[in-house]
Amino acid sequence: VEPDAVIQPLDWHRAYKTPWEVNRLREAAKRAAAGHRAAREAFLEGRSEREIHWAYLRGSGHLEIEVPFETITALDEKAAILHYQYKRGSEAAPGKVLLCDAGAAYEGYASDITRTWVRPETEGLDELFVELLRGMDRLQRELVEAVRPGRPYLEIHIQAHQRVARLMANTGLVTSSAEEAFDRGVTRAFLPHGVGHHLGIQVHDVGGQQAGPDGGTVEPPEEYPMLRNTRILEPGQVVTIEPGLYLIEMLLEELHESDEARLVDWDVVDRLAGHGGIRIEDDVLCTEEAPEDLTRPHIEGP
Ligand code: GLY
Ligand code: MN
Ligand code: MN
Repeated sequence: VEPDAVIQPLDWHRAYKTPWEVNRLREAAKRAAAGHRAAREAFLEGRSEREIHWAYLRGSGHLEIEVPFETITALDEKAAILHYQYKRGSEAAPGKVLLCDAGAAYEGYASDITRTWVRPETEGLDELFVELLRGMDRLQRELVEAVRPGRPYLEIHIQAHQRVARLMANTGLVTSSAEEAFDRGVTRAFLPHGVGHHLGIQVHDVGGQQAGPDGGTVEPPEEYPMLRNTRILEPGQVVTIEPGLYLIEMLLEELHESDEARLVDWDVVDRLAGHGGIRIEDDVLCTEEAPEDLTRPHIEGP
């Protein structure tokens, strides 16, 4: 029995973490970061997706059944699959790019961290991808800084698209201005997911689209249907900030057939396709003042 009169206020208030809860989330982030460092090392040694997964488990100290969600250890083109959960063996190693999205648990609280790494000097690694990766790291940190009380989370999501548009214009992925690429929705084909979500006992924590303590829903705008968080940021909330850029064949085909196709440099798309994509994800506490990034103290960006 889950009466709305009980569940809705609980879900609403679960967004505001107590100091005790924040400490659990800090520990969960620290634990996942140790896994990510081990995964990175395995990747740089040329290991396979399954070996990178095992390295993650060993580094985080978790058993397979203890991680809060199935790890993603995607090499090269598989990084374009948002929920890629296969783990290929040595037939698909070494890779030039690793996208690792994995979390840890601490006393019931979860972390959710993504890092994308490249193996320098690997054959086929395009410098332009490395430039995109560095740019994504910069813009991700700017978005983390934007986690301020009173700001609608949707604003950060929109900023992510504007900044990705700027990155695409600066690297020649689009031939138009950043403004035009954003206005015409080109970034939506390259970044189809939301910029993040609430984090707590659940990885996608409850109440992200709730209108108020008594319930109701605030739907995301039509152009961003995947956004899980439409609430106003307030101190005590913990959210993920996870912008990305992917070469997703199905979405690129659609874009190629649309009026916006002329805004894209398709030769550049072809050059990058085998690299899959980029995501950088940190767990962030909103405070009265500057946000606290729970992830970066334990693992750097790419
Ligand atoms: N790992 C799931 C997510 O990033 O939302
Ligand atoms: Mn996430
Ligand atoms: Mn994640």
